[in-house]
Amino acid sequence: MNPTSVQAAEPPPTSRLALAALPGSVRTARRHVHDLLHRWELPHLIETAELVVSELSTNAIRETGIMTDSPGYGELTSGLNAICVSLHVVDSRAVIEVWDASPSPPHIKDADPDDEGGRGLFLVEALTTRWGFRRPETGGKVVWAEIKPG
Ligand SMILES: Nc1ncnc2c1ncn2[C@@H]1O[C@H](COP(=O)(O)OP(=O)(O)OP(=O)(O)O)[C@@H](O)[C@H]1O
Ligand SMILES: [Mg+2]
Repeated sequence: MNPTSVQAAEPPPTSRLALAALPGSVRTARRHVHDLLHRWELPHLIETAELVVSELSTNAIRETGIMTDSPGYGELTSGLNAICVSLHVVDSRAVIEVWDASPSPPHIKDADPDDEGGRGLFLVEALTTRWGFRRPETGGKVVWAEIKPG
């Protein structure tokens, strides 16, 4: 009997990037997701993934971070939180996860047409096959979303 060649399965692409919880990190998160999906040859997911990571990381920074990119030194010495952006691909589906230090759950708001905000998670819901959150034992929470190919 001839030997059968068994190829080790490639591990699924995965990435994790911790960022300071400052507004400017949203741009870095977008860029990071863009570059990863380009490298992983999933360009059709880039546009949607960038929108989703923007909404999730903006929320995460607001919940745990500093809301200006030029905080006073005092604010920085009193502690700067982080967020963590993860991306992984399973069966051609990309899942974005954003961790923040707050245990509070995200919830879709019933926004009036005149309201300035309250639409981010609506957008996430429209652009994803599913989304949700979980609370790791180590604290904070992860809001995750599975990207719908555009
Ligand atoms: N990471 C989070 N941690 C805790 N609460 C969250 C988080 N993300 C969202 N929320 C809650 O869910 C609500 C709805 O979020 P959503 O992103 O839809 O709207 P928004 O952030 O208030 O406004 P917009 O995104 O339109 O600027 C928020 O107002 C907040 O109360
Ligand atoms: Mg929002």
